[in-house]
Amino acid sequence: MSSKLNILCVGACCFDIVSQVLKYPLEDTDQRCLDQHWQRGGNASNSCTVLGLLGAKPTFFGTIADSHEKRFLLEDFAKFDVNTDYAVIHEGCDSPASCIILSAATGSRTIVHSNKNLPELSVEDFNKIDLSAFQWVHFEGRNVTNITKMIEHIREYNKSHQDGSSITISVEIENAKHELESLIPLPDVLFVSKDYAMFKGYTNKEETVEKIQAQTIPGCLVICPWGEDGASASSSDGQLVHSSAFPPSQVVDTLGAGDTFIAATIFSLASGCTLKDSITFGCRIAGLKVGVIGWEPLR
Ligand code: FRU
Repeated sequence: MSSKLNILCVGACCFDIVSQVLKYPLEDTDQRCLDQHWQRGGNASNSCTVLGLLGAKPTFFGTIADSHEKRFLLEDFAKFDVNTDYAVIHEGCDSPASCIILSAATGSRTIVHSNKNLPELSVEDFNKIDLSAFQWVHFEGRNVTNITKMIEHIREYNKSHQDGSSITISVEIENAKHELESLIPLPDVLFVSKDYAMFKGYTNKEETVEKIQAQTIPGCLVICPWGEDGASASSSDGQLVHSSAFPPSQVVDTLGAGDTFIAATIFSLASGCTLKDSITFGCRIAGLKVGVIGWEPLR
């Protein structure tokens, strides 16, 4: 195995059409934006981009439509050194896509997403993967029934690889959806978004890690980024660690900031750094990202 960190990211890839505007538009008006570009998106896809930038060896594992956007998406993965050998291409589907508005006035990103007919990954797709190539598998929290089975499959694999070659499993729960709760007791490392925490009625990152920790397996690390308030994390011994945020002088693009935090934190944990150092690194890299448009300037 190469000395680079082999990390498999399981989740979505979509096509993002990003418009930069001075301020968020009024409904039913017609105006020009400051700039507009296309970008490869999707949480797992974005995290792969950041892992590639950090010098890891990321592999994207998800479905991609065999539509005209496919070439752009695959070429862009390659630009950031992301392996797509395992991507599952579906014919006769439309690519999922998002229209995104970045407001220069507030730094907000507003996403309107569509997925018409691209199927989710199947367990059979996952079982074809040679797990021995990876030391870490990260799952975006979606497709809950199937990824539960994929995680069981890795747990079985780990039983016969107790010699140091077992795979660390992480999961991100991001969206305000009840079904994601069943993923909480599954991983070794759990990322909980501010959106999900607020959906559960938690009011800050410390409360979130404490309450979620009680539902995880022993030894699980729970990590919660909270935008400009930094991030908190806890280990099963109840130790709570924090990092402040590292905002740039001007926030210009928060699209994928959470995906960036996750990728950088995984990179640091997989490199053997402490939990506190890892979330601090996650916050630093997310701070760098939100100061530039897209990822191209970070290459
Ligand atoms: C950002 C992102 C975008 C995508 C959207 C899908 O986290 O992955 O790239 O359009 O979320 O919900």
